[in-house]
Amino acid sequence: MIIAIDGPSGAGKSTLGKMLAKEFGLLYLDTGAMYRAAALAVIKKGVSLEDREKVAEIAENAKIELVGEPDSMQVLLDGEDVSAEIRTPDVATAASVVSTISDVRKIMVDHQRAIGESAAKGCVLEGRDIGSVVFPNADIKFFLTAKPEARARRRFAEDQAKGRATSYEKTLDEINKRDERDVSRSDSPLTIPQNATVIDTSELELNDVFELMILKVKALAAGSTAG
Ligand code: DC
Repeated sequence: MIIAIDGPSGAGKSTLGKMLAKEFGLLYLDTGAMYRAAALAVIKKGVSLEDREKVAEIAENAKIELVGEPDSMQVLLDGEDVSAEIRTPDVATAASVVSTISDVRKIMVDHQRAIGESAAKGCVLEGRDIGSVVFPNADIKFFLTAKPEARARRRFAEDQAKGRATSYEKTLDEINKRDERDVSRSDSPLTIPQNATVIDTSELELNDVFELMILKVKALAAGSTAG
């Protein structure tokens, strides 16, 4: 079973994706973490994000691995644990630039398909182009969204809890800029995939969204055994 979760940053994709993966014993793949790791590789090499050819070459040669259980997943870049380093606002911004490069996207998409297809029981993948490009035939597609202010509030609270220095205004500004880049890029822009269930999480509690998602998955499982 392939479950695709797409949507803008801060809509709850990661938290809910992990919860779903655990609930149904599926592999969890955070595809944004892969773009972040590629961006970090570029930063570490001191290469300009404007140099698209070099950036693609670095992404191609970087060894990016996601290992462990959903809650304790580690992101390895060339064998080094970069799980914390890829979560900084600078890397987030760099990832949104790197992810506009088609050659980078091709490498990431191939990698994501291979991981999803080889997962024994199935996989929950979350990102921006999962239901539209990576797995257009996914069994279930969710599109999670929320107002920018709600997403900025959540991201800011998360950053504060982790001791990262930032402000709500700065977080909102970054979210707006990333949204703009995600929806306006020419290759695989963030869109609502065909047949996706759209959930606006602005006013909903996490568990209410989770219940909605579980119902969808159970309905699919019941349908496939009934036939
Ligand atoms: O979900 P995230 O914030 O960790 O993603 C980091 C960046 O990567 C974000 O700007 C959008 C991009 N991304 C993408 O283009 N396609 C994906 N499937 C996942 C993330």
